[in-house]
Amino acid sequence: MTQQKSGSTTGAGAPAVSDRNSLTVGPNGPVVLHDVHFLEQMAHFNREKVPERQPHAKGSGAFGVFETTHDVSAYTKASLFQPGAKTEMLARFSTVAGEQGSPDTWRDVRGFSLKFYTDEGNYDLVGNNTPVFFVRDPMKFPHFIRSQKRLPDSGLRDNHMQWDFWTNNPESAHQVTYLMGVRGLPRTWRQMNGYGSHTYMWINAAGEKFWVKYHFHTRQGMAFFSNAEAAAMSGADADFHRRDLFDAIARGEHPVWDLSVQVMPYAEAATYRFNPFDLTKTWSHKDYPLIPVGVMTLNRNPENFFAQIEQAAFSPGNTVPGIGLSPDKMLLGRAFAYNDAQRNRIGTNFHQLPVNQPKVPMNTYMFDGHMAYHHSGAQPVYAPNSGGRTWSDETGPVHDGWEVDGELVRSAYTLHAEDDDFTQPGVLVREVFNDDQRAQLVDQVAGSLLGGVRSPVLERAFDYWKSIDPDVGGRIEAAVRAGGAPRPAEGMGEG
Ligand code: HEM
Repeated sequence: MTQQKSGSTTGAGAPAVSDRNSLTVGPNGPVVLHDVHFLEQMAHFNREKVPERQPHAKGSGAFGVFETTHDVSAYTKASLFQPGAKTEMLARFSTVAGEQGSPDTWRDVRGFSLKFYTDEGNYDLVGNNTPVFFVRDPMKFPHFIRSQKRLPDSGLRDNHMQWDFWTNNPESAHQVTYLMGVRGLPRTWRQMNGYGSHTYMWINAAGEKFWVKYHFHTRQGMAFFSNAEAAAMSGADADFHRRDLFDAIARGEHPVWDLSVQVMPYAEAATYRFNPFDLTKTWSHKDYPLIPVGVMTLNRNPENFFAQIEQAAFSPGNTVPGIGLSPDKMLLGRAFAYNDAQRNRIGTNFHQLPVNQPKVPMNTYMFDGHMAYHHSGAQPVYAPNSGGRTWSDETGPVHDGWEVDGELVRSAYTLHAEDDDFTQPGVLVREVFNDDQRAQLVDQVAGSLLGGVRSPVLERAFDYWKSIDPDVGGRIEAAVRAGGAPRPAEGMGEG
């Protein structure tokens, strides 16, 4: 084999002597300790991986552009959403429970993470392909994820554990109906919608506040896998979704999504018939119709999966002026979780990596730490200072705040007029799904329950589905009873 003329180098930039033969005492002799290049290669190889994301480990993404095509300046002053603005961005799609090597066509919710490199700093919208979520208190999140992952003893995934969690947390019904329904298995990432899911705040130039929900509708048309197709694909190509996106972009077929938002005037939140900050609920489109905003196009593949996708760090806490969070407790929990995960997963200075760096100058007082690359020079490292380095000093009400009052409590949200766990999933089953999709839902749920779900979780699951829809629940129970007697409770410690 011919050697490249200029050869390779060591990490220090000096010519490396050989990438094919280690240095030995004679052709058959032992390898010597001062083969620095060999040792460098070995040692670095041992450190080639970082911990995978916990959750959303399996995924991929691409770069693109977001263009604001409509005037929503009445609702937000955010520069990326002003008419005509074009903003570079990164998207990452993922499954939730599977590990890095797991098939990306398993039935699961899909992550829909977006990073907009705006001229006011990075704005991240870290959503899913569903408009709702399984739980509404962040305290439950680690428990939820563990129940969807693997058993402590066998290391196997377990339907019983999943249904035990879901049926013990009936607020999961809406999201579980999505997941078990046709939308739980997108055919490709290109053919799924994305949602911000939470309610966020928008603030206009006059300081007026609104509550918004984001909807990204695929222009490729929604398409889904049947269970059989997905099962076959999991074996044939565990990276099917990753490959599909990469290949499509490489062919010049750039996927496109239209963004629209539902906007609720600030004051209406208090009296809306559903708690608008409850992540298990949607807002009726009749109450709050979609308002078009712009278009997202993914047009550039990563050049290095690890550097640009694995090390990408998204956080719902990354907002820009004109966009804020909301009283959704889940969102508030997430505002902490992500950057903390990334300090652990990637390193203290993860924000300095090219994929995570804002395109605007930074003046942060975060200082030093592992792998510090950018620095503030010989300027004061503290604020306030007399050395001329600027610092921030706003006081008083914040532009993206809301009013709260009351004692500290541990409590569920106050219920609004029509809040309950089963009405909205019932509407999804009866009014959105057609006969064929309802039949598929019954098959899917019955199949999942037959996959090792034991008493008393099984009976709870029947009740759960009958609460969503008596007819569908009855059909699920009949299908399970016909499919095999439930096995007695064992193992997981249920009473
Ligand atoms: C309290 C609730 C939640 C907590 C504590 C939480 C925490 C996390 C953590 C720690 C990660 C890994 C981040 C990383 O290593 O870079 C993650 C990833 C992710 N989460 Fe959550 N999560 C929560 C709820 C949600 C919800 C409600 C959604 C969607 C609406 C969501 C969507 C995602 C997505 C899409 C990713 C992958 C991000 C990426 O592509 O890098 N999560 N979550």
